Amino acid sequence: MGRAGFNTTLLLAITAAAAVGVPVFMADQPIAAIRDELSEPNDFSSIADERQRSIAIFTEMGKVLQHPRCVNCHPRTNRPKQGDPPHPHIPPVARGPDGLGMPAMRCTTCHGEKNFSFGGGRGSLPGAESWHLAPESMAWEGRALGEICEQIKDPQRNGGKSLSELQRHNAEDGLVGWGFEPGDGRSAAPGSQELFGQLTAA
Ligand code: HEC
Ligand code: HEC
Repeated sequence: MGRAGFNTTLLLAITAAAAVGVPVFMADQPIAAIRDELSEPNDFSSIADERQRSIAIFTEMGKVLQHPRCVNCHPRTNRPKQGDPPHPHIPPVARGPDGLGMPAMRCTTCHGEKNFSFGGGRGSLPGAESWHLAPESMAWEGRALGEICEQIKDPQRNGGKSLSELQRHNAEDGLVGWGFEPGDGRSAAPGSQELFGQLTAA
Protein backbone atom coordinates (compact mmCIF):
# COMPACT_ATOMS: atom_id res chain seq x y z
CA MET A 1 0.00 0.00 0.00
CA GLY A 2 1.37 3.45 -0.93
CA ARG A 3 1.97 6.13 1.65
CA ALA A 4 -1.07 8.16 0.61
CA GLY A 5 -3.23 5.03 0.85
CA PHE A 6 -2.01 4.36 4.37
CA ASN A 7 -2.77 7.90 5.50
CA THR A 8 -6.28 7.73 4.09
CA THR A 9 -6.91 4.47 5.91
CA LEU A 10 -5.62 5.94 9.15
CA LEU A 11 -7.74 9.04 8.73
CA LEU A 12 -10.85 6.94 8.08
CA ALA A 13 -10.14 4.82 11.16
CA ILE A 14 -9.79 7.92 13.34
CA THR A 15 -12.95 9.46 11.91
CA ALA A 16 -14.87 6.22 12.49
CA ALA A 17 -13.56 5.94 16.04
CA ALA A 18 -14.53 9.55 16.76
CA ALA A 19 -17.99 8.99 15.25
CA VAL A 20 -18.77 6.16 17.67
CA GLY A 21 -17.36 8.10 20.60
CA VAL A 22 -14.12 6.19 21.09
CA PRO A 23 -11.63 8.70 22.46
CA VAL A 24 -8.79 9.31 20.05
CA PHE A 25 -5.73 10.62 21.83
CA MET A 26 -3.36 12.64 19.72
CA ALA A 27 -0.02 13.74 21.06
CA ASP A 28 -0.51 17.40 20.13
CA GLN A 29 -4.08 17.67 21.38
CA PRO A 30 -4.46 20.00 24.37
CA ILE A 31 -5.37 18.17 27.59
CA ALA A 32 -8.48 20.31 28.04
CA ALA A 33 -9.93 19.09 24.75
CA ILE A 34 -9.66 15.52 25.96
CA ARG A 35 -11.00 16.17 29.45
CA ASP A 36 -13.86 18.45 28.43
CA GLU A 37 -16.30 15.89 27.12
CA LEU A 38 -18.97 17.66 29.14
CA SER A 39 -19.15 21.44 29.04
CA GLU A 40 -19.15 23.59 32.18
CA PRO A 41 -21.98 25.98 33.11
CA ASN A 42 -19.67 28.89 32.16
CA ASP A 43 -19.52 27.66 28.58
CA PHE A 44 -23.17 28.71 28.24
CA SER A 45 -22.90 32.21 29.70
CA SER A 46 -22.83 33.82 26.24
CA ILE A 47 -26.46 32.73 25.68
CA ALA A 48 -28.32 35.77 26.99
CA ASP A 49 -31.86 34.43 26.82
CA GLU A 50 -32.49 32.44 29.99
CA ARG A 51 -34.84 29.93 28.40
CA GLN A 52 -32.48 29.29 25.49
CA ARG A 53 -29.61 28.91 27.96
CA SER A 54 -31.57 26.39 30.07
CA ILE A 55 -32.39 24.36 26.99
CA ALA A 56 -28.74 24.34 25.91
CA ILE A 57 -27.60 23.27 29.38
CA PHE A 58 -30.22 20.54 29.62
CA THR A 59 -29.22 19.28 26.18
CA GLU A 60 -25.67 19.01 27.48
CA MET A 61 -26.93 17.09 30.53
CA GLY A 62 -28.65 14.76 28.08
CA LYS A 63 -25.23 13.35 27.15
CA VAL A 64 -25.23 11.89 30.67
CA LEU A 65 -28.95 11.18 31.11
CA GLN A 66 -29.16 9.26 27.83
CA HIS A 67 -25.90 7.40 28.33
CA PRO A 68 -26.27 3.60 28.57
CA ARG A 69 -24.77 3.67 32.10
CA CYS A 70 -27.86 5.57 33.25
CA VAL A 71 -30.56 4.27 30.90
CA ASN A 72 -29.70 0.60 31.57
CA CYS A 73 -31.01 1.11 35.10
CA HIS A 74 -33.92 3.34 34.04
CA PRO A 75 -35.54 0.86 31.62
CA ARG A 76 -39.10 0.81 30.36
CA THR A 77 -39.68 -2.82 31.33
CA ASN A 78 -39.15 -4.68 34.60
CA ARG A 79 -35.77 -5.96 33.42
CA PRO A 80 -32.55 -3.94 33.61
CA LYS A 81 -30.23 -3.75 30.62
CA GLN A 82 -26.50 -4.26 30.19
CA GLY A 83 -23.71 -3.02 27.98
CA ASP A 84 -23.50 -0.61 25.07
CA PRO A 85 -25.37 -1.03 22.90
CA PRO A 86 -27.77 -2.15 25.63
CA HIS A 87 -29.18 -5.66 25.69
CA PRO A 88 -31.49 -7.24 28.29
CA HIS A 89 -29.82 -8.21 31.59
CA ILE A 90 -28.31 -11.72 31.64
CA PRO A 91 -29.28 -13.68 33.66
CA PRO A 92 -32.93 -12.58 33.45
CA VAL A 93 -33.84 -10.63 36.58
CA ALA A 94 -37.02 -8.72 37.41
CA ARG A 95 -37.51 -5.58 39.45
CA GLY A 96 -39.67 -7.27 42.13
CA PRO A 97 -41.94 -5.38 44.52
CA ASP A 98 -39.23 -2.97 45.78
CA GLY A 99 -36.91 -2.58 42.76
CA LEU A 100 -34.39 -4.85 44.50
CA GLY A 101 -35.32 -7.98 42.58
CA MET A 102 -37.43 -11.09 43.16
CA PRO A 103 -36.89 -13.03 46.42
CA ALA A 104 -34.66 -15.64 44.74
CA MET A 105 -32.73 -13.15 42.58
CA ARG A 106 -32.06 -10.07 44.66
CA CYS A 107 -29.83 -7.50 42.95
CA THR A 108 -27.54 -7.51 45.96
CA THR A 109 -26.94 -11.27 45.63
CA CYS A 110 -24.57 -10.36 42.82
CA HIS A 111 -24.09 -6.59 43.00
CA GLY A 112 -21.98 -5.49 45.96
CA GLU A 113 -21.28 -2.02 47.28
CA LYS A 114 -18.30 -1.56 44.96
CA ASN A 115 -17.35 -2.61 41.45
CA PHE A 116 -15.71 -6.02 41.43
CA SER A 117 -13.08 -6.47 38.74
CA PHE A 118 -12.66 -9.95 37.26
CA GLY A 119 -9.06 -9.00 36.38
CA GLY A 120 -7.08 -9.76 33.27
CA GLY A 121 -9.24 -7.53 31.04
CA ARG A 122 -12.31 -9.68 31.62
CA GLY A 123 -14.49 -6.82 32.77
CA SER A 124 -16.20 -6.32 36.10
CA LEU A 125 -19.38 -6.76 38.07
CA PRO A 126 -20.95 -3.36 38.76
CA GLY A 127 -21.48 -2.37 42.37
CA ALA A 128 -22.63 0.61 44.44
CA GLU A 129 -24.46 1.05 47.70
CA SER A 130 -28.13 0.00 47.49
CA TRP A 131 -27.96 -1.27 43.91
CA HIS A 132 -31.53 -1.47 42.59
CA LEU A 133 -33.70 -0.63 39.61
CA ALA A 134 -35.23 2.81 39.07
CA PRO A 135 -39.04 2.74 39.50
CA GLU A 136 -41.23 2.43 36.43
CA SER A 137 -42.30 6.08 36.69
CA MET A 138 -38.63 7.03 36.09
CA ALA A 139 -38.21 5.03 32.87
CA TRP A 140 -36.09 6.90 30.29
CA GLU A 141 -35.39 4.12 27.83
CA GLY A 142 -36.58 5.15 24.36
CA ARG A 143 -37.73 8.57 25.58
CA ALA A 144 -36.82 11.85 23.91
CA LEU A 145 -34.77 14.27 26.00
CA GLY A 146 -37.72 16.67 26.34
CA GLU A 147 -39.84 13.88 27.82
CA ILE A 148 -37.07 12.94 30.25
CA CYS A 149 -36.88 16.60 31.30
CA GLU A 150 -40.63 16.66 32.04
CA GLN A 151 -40.37 13.37 33.89
CA ILE A 152 -37.52 14.24 36.24
CA LYS A 153 -39.09 17.59 37.19
CA ASP A 154 -42.51 16.03 37.92
CA PRO A 155 -42.83 15.28 41.68
CA GLN A 156 -45.61 12.79 40.83
CA ARG A 157 -43.09 10.68 38.96
CA ASN A 158 -39.68 11.62 40.39
CA GLY A 159 -40.25 10.27 43.89
CA GLY A 160 -41.62 13.55 45.27
CA LYS A 161 -38.39 15.49 44.73
CA SER A 162 -38.24 19.28 44.66
CA LEU A 163 -35.83 20.85 42.17
CA SER A 164 -33.19 21.33 44.87
CA GLU A 165 -33.56 17.70 45.99
CA LEU A 166 -33.18 16.68 42.37
CA GLN A 167 -29.99 18.74 42.12
CA ARG A 168 -28.64 17.08 45.27
CA HIS A 169 -29.54 13.65 43.86
CA ASN A 170 -27.56 14.34 40.68
CA ALA A 171 -24.62 15.81 42.58
CA GLU A 172 -24.41 13.25 45.41
CA ASP A 173 -26.35 10.02 44.78
CA GLY A 174 -24.14 6.94 44.71
CA LEU A 175 -25.94 5.27 41.79
CA VAL A 176 -25.54 8.43 39.70
CA GLY A 177 -21.88 8.52 40.77
CA TRP A 178 -21.43 4.94 39.63
CA GLY A 179 -22.27 6.00 36.05
CA PHE A 180 -19.04 8.05 35.99
CA GLU A 181 -16.93 5.22 37.50
CA PRO A 182 -18.60 2.11 36.16
CA GLY A 183 -15.69 -0.31 36.54
CA ASP A 184 -13.41 -2.21 34.16
CA GLY A 185 -14.70 -2.95 30.68
CA ARG A 186 -17.51 -0.37 30.67
CA SER A 187 -17.56 3.13 29.15
CA ALA A 188 -18.20 5.92 31.65
CA ALA A 189 -20.78 8.69 31.32
CA PRO A 190 -19.02 11.87 30.08
CA GLY A 191 -17.60 14.39 32.54
CA SER A 192 -17.80 13.88 36.29
CA GLN A 193 -20.57 13.76 38.87
CA GLU A 194 -19.37 17.11 40.23
CA LEU A 195 -19.70 18.75 36.82
CA PHE A 196 -23.06 17.07 36.22
CA GLY A 197 -24.25 18.47 39.57
CA GLN A 198 -23.08 21.96 38.57
CA LEU A 199 -24.91 21.77 35.25
CA THR A 200 -28.07 20.66 37.07
CA ALA A 201 -27.78 23.62 39.43
CA ALA A 202 -27.26 26.01 36.50
C1 HEC B 1 -27.14 -13.54 39.23
C2 HEC B 1 -26.36 -12.31 39.35
C3 HEC B 1 -27.05 -10.99 39.11
C4 HEC B 1 -28.24 -10.51 39.66
C5 HEC B 1 -29.18 -11.23 40.62
C6 HEC B 1 -28.41 -9.17 39.16
N1 HEC B 1 -27.36 -8.83 38.33
FE1 HEC B 1 -27.11 -7.09 37.33
N2 HEC B 1 -25.39 -7.78 36.48
C7 HEC B 1 -24.83 -9.00 36.74
C8 HEC B 1 -23.59 -9.12 35.99
C9 HEC B 1 -22.63 -10.30 35.99
C10 HEC B 1 -23.44 -7.91 35.27
C11 HEC B 1 -22.29 -7.51 34.33
C12 HEC B 1 -22.49 -8.06 32.99
C13 HEC B 1 -21.49 -7.52 32.00
O1 HEC B 1 -21.10 -6.36 32.08
O2 HEC B 1 -21.10 -8.28 31.13
C14 HEC B 1 -24.61 -7.12 35.59
C15 HEC B 1 -24.84 -5.87 35.06
C16 HEC B 1 -25.91 -5.05 35.41
C17 HEC B 1 -26.17 -3.76 34.84
C18 HEC B 1 -25.41 -3.20 33.68
C19 HEC B 1 -24.65 -1.99 33.84
C20 HEC B 1 -24.28 -1.47 32.48
O3 HEC B 1 -24.58 -0.30 32.25
O4 HEC B 1 -23.75 -2.21 31.66
C21 HEC B 1 -27.29 -3.26 35.45
C22 HEC B 1 -27.96 -1.95 35.20
C23 HEC B 1 -27.73 -4.25 36.40
N3 HEC B 1 -26.87 -5.33 36.35
C24 HEC B 1 -28.82 -4.10 37.21
C25 HEC B 1 -29.33 -5.10 38.03
C26 HEC B 1 -30.50 -4.96 38.86
C27 HEC B 1 -31.31 -3.69 38.97
C28 HEC B 1 -30.71 -6.16 39.48
C29 HEC B 1 -31.84 -6.55 40.39
C30 HEC B 1 -33.20 -6.33 39.87
C31 HEC B 1 -29.63 -7.05 39.05
N4 HEC B 1 -28.81 -6.37 38.18
C32 HEC B 1 -29.47 -8.35 39.47
C33 HEC B 1 -25.32 -9.98 37.56
C34 HEC B 1 -26.51 -9.92 38.29
C1 HEC C 1 -28.20 0.73 39.64
C2 HEC C 1 -29.30 1.43 39.04
C3 HEC C 1 -29.19 2.91 38.70
C4 HEC C 1 -28.24 3.52 37.92
C5 HEC C 1 -27.00 2.89 37.31
C6 HEC C 1 -28.65 4.89 37.78
N1 HEC C 1 -29.81 5.11 38.45
FE1 HEC C 1 -30.84 6.86 38.59
N2 HEC C 1 -32.16 6.01 39.87
C7 HEC C 1 -32.12 4.71 40.32
C8 HEC C 1 -33.12 4.52 41.36
C9 HEC C 1 -33.37 3.24 42.14
C10 HEC C 1 -33.77 5.77 41.51
C11 HEC C 1 -34.86 6.12 42.51
C12 HEC C 1 -34.20 6.40 43.84
C13 HEC C 1 -34.70 7.56 44.56
O1 HEC C 1 -35.74 8.13 44.23
O2 HEC C 1 -34.01 7.95 45.52
C14 HEC C 1 -33.16 6.67 40.55
C15 HEC C 1 -33.54 7.98 40.38
C16 HEC C 1 -32.89 8.88 39.58
C17 HEC C 1 -33.29 10.26 39.41
C18 HEC C 1 -34.47 10.90 40.11
C19 HEC C 1 -35.41 11.61 39.22
C20 HEC C 1 -36.22 10.81 38.25
O3 HEC C 1 -37.42 10.98 38.25
O4 HEC C 1 -35.67 10.06 37.42
C21 HEC C 1 -32.38 10.85 38.58
C22 HEC C 1 -32.35 12.29 38.09
C23 HEC C 1 -31.41 9.84 38.25
N3 HEC C 1 -31.75 8.65 38.85
C24 HEC C 1 -30.30 10.07 37.46
C25 HEC C 1 -29.39 9.09 37.08
C26 HEC C 1 -28.23 9.34 36.23
C27 HEC C 1 -27.87 10.67 35.63
C28 HEC C 1 -27.56 8.16 36.13
C29 HEC C 1 -26.28 7.88 35.38
C30 HEC C 1 -25.15 8.75 35.59
C31 HEC C 1 -28.30 7.17 36.91
N4 HEC C 1 -29.41 7.77 37.47
C32 HEC C 1 -27.94 5.84 37.04
C33 HEC C 1 -31.28 3.72 39.86
C34 HEC C 1 -30.18 3.92 39.05
